[in-house]
Amino acid sequence: MAEGMRFEHKKCFRGKQGTSIASWADLAGDVNMTYDNFLKVVGELFDLDWRKYRRRSARRQVEKRLRELGFSNYSQYLERLRADPEEARKLPDLMRITVSRFFREKTCWWELAEILPELLKGKDRGVPLRAWCAGCCNGEEAYSLAILFLWTFGSTMNVDGTGIDILATDIDEKVLTRAHVGCYDQRTLREVPTEILARFFNQSGRQSCVDESIRNVVRFKRHNLTEDASPAGMDLVLCRYLAFTYYRGQRRRQAAERLWAAMKPGAALMIGRKEELGPLEEEMFEGWLGAKVVFRKRI
Ligand SMILES: C[S@@+](CC[C@H](N)C(=O)[O-])C[C@H]1O[C@@H](n2cnc3c(N)ncnc32)[C@H](O)[C@@H]1O
Repeated sequence: MAEGMRFEHKKCFRGKQGTSIASWADLAGDVNMTYDNFLKVVGELFDLDWRKYRRRSARRQVEKRLRELGFSNYSQYLERLRADPEEARKLPDLMRITVSRFFREKTCWWELAEILPELLKGKDRGVPLRAWCAGCCNGEEAYSLAILFLWTFGSTMNVDGTGIDILATDIDEKVLTRAHVGCYDQRTLREVPTEILARFFNQSGRQSCVDESIRNVVRFKRHNLTEDASPAGMDLVLCRYLAFTYYRGQRRRQAAERLWAAMKPGAALMIGRKEELGPLEEEMFEGWLGAKVVFRKRI
């Protein structure tokens, strides 16, 4: 590649977060660019990261798009992404992963159950716990929270005013439609204890459907975590396997700020067991005593 062209690439991208993007400049035009290098450059240019998780699913999507565009290598596609903001805007959707299951990482939920009474402390009678599941997928996570809550406080629900109001959001209309229906195959239920299955699900053919008592406390809504204004006044926010897995840099910072803004002082944030908060997020959230996946909002 001509020296002038290499320089142009560097000039285009230098300045984003003040970092050097020599790797893109070095790789541009490389018809043998590997998928690993493609992901590395996508991370640098778009603050999106599929390197640690579900990289094969993302690869299938990327390769499908490459074929649709008539490209034969990653480099051509990157060049298009760089030059065409409309194509770049599609990238997060293209590589979106919509996999979830009930009580994903069971031990995290038992950790949350320990904290629920603390979150309810000081609440006026009749005022429910307000929770937000950001990136709720097909509803498994929001319904798991509702079940956990009813399981823990069931007998007191609507008697002494203890209740929960869950807002579950996702960018993808298709998953929200499935969430509304609330019926699931057995593979998404594999972590659900039998007692809970018997109490909160009804059989409908080969599927198990969440009971009305659970559906009544969950509202689903379309919401883009990186663009839309946050809901307000949340006591508890769940954001698992979205911002802290697939985002980095400025995109991750913005998502964390939106989660933070939705939370009341002292509210809790729950993340996934394989996720970690970075130094920037630690300015916004501190570890909850004794918990691994729950954090408290810093004021
Ligand atoms: C891997 S799933 C995780 C689902 C669930 N939180 C869990 O841990 O089981 C990620 C979800 O985030 C959604 N998502 C991706 N980008 C989003 C965005 N910008 N705003 C809101 N939801 C988004 C996807 O549609 C998908 O349903």
